[in-house]
Amino acid sequence: MAKIKVAVNGALGRMGQQTLHAVVADPDLELTAAADIKAEREHMSVPGLPKKTPLYNNLTSVIEMYHPQVVVDFTVPEAAMGAARLALKNGACLVMGTTGLSEANLKEIDDLAHRYKKGAVVAANFAIGAIIMIHLAKTAAKYFDNAEIIELHHDKKLDAPSGTALATARAMLQSRGKPFSYPGTEKETLKGTRGGQSEGIAIHSVRLPGLVASQEVIFGALGQTLSIRHDTVSRESFMPGIILAVKEVIHIYGLVYGLERLLKLGD
Ligand SMILES: NC(=O)c1ccc[n+]([C@@H]2O[C@H](COP(=O)([O-])OP(=O)(O)OC[C@H]3O[C@@H](n4cnc5c(N)ncnc54)[C@H](O)[C@@H]3O)[C@@H](O)[C@H]2O)c1
Repeated sequence: MAKIKVAVNGALGRMGQQTLHAVVADPDLELTAAADIKAEREHMSVPGLPKKTPLYNNLTSVIEMYHPQVVVDFTVPEAAMGAARLALKNGACLVMGTTGLSEANLKEIDDLAHRYKKGAVVAANFAIGAIIMIHLAKTAAKYFDNAEIIELHHDKKLDAPSGTALATARAMLQSRGKPFSYPGTEKETLKGTRGGQSEGIAIHSVRLPGLVASQEVIFGALGQTLSIRHDTVSRESFMPGIILAVKEVIHIYGLVYGLERLLKLGD
């Protein structure tokens, strides 16, 4: 079977570089070229590849010259939609990992993918363990009235709470169909100690050097607690999910939003 031709946009970034390694390491995939706005050279070395990989400072050149079947994007929200349009309009499928896209952006990607009969996978979290954590939390949410989320990330993270914590809370509430019970505190002597609150779920954000990304969802009921925890210890955790998306996206028409749909976890 012919290898799937892949191009990576944002190739000099943290996720982009890790994705290059993962693509090169997979026998079913061929890394054709890479793009990054910061590119100063025309080639880059990727460990595991004997020849150098063409590198451009724009995705347009990569698509025109190498015709990749799949474009993987890990850039910034401001650049991601341009890359999505370029890829889908020029015959490439899209795997989008860049976070911060709006509902309108997702709709546009879905429309474009249908119009050009291509597939697109957009996922805010490609770590398979994190997706399973959310899935398990959805199940538990039906059986417990109280729940809190503690998310722990490195000290350079820009936002709090994390997108994954908010997505987990949304999924739990949707599965439960009503808010959780939130035990009020009569006297909060240090403001914020009880965390933020989303329909009865308290969310606590820890930021420390030394951490990568972790999350624990704790459910409580009379005489028992249930804790579901996921730890990302390196960016390698995202790679199996990204590679799965690259292999599946060529068989899809339209947008698949969220890795859980590809893992066929059901409700
Ligand atoms: N979906 C997931 O599982 C997942 C996991 C981790 C990070 N992310 C997201 O991935 C994105 C990238 O994260 P990162 O840590 O690699 O960031 P980073 O800053 O290390 O890398 C981003 C790269 O994009 C490049 N870039 C910016 N504008 C560009 C453009 N117009 N064209 C081409 N390249 C451009 C930058 O030069 C940089 O090299 C962020 O949105 C982050 O939130 C998603």
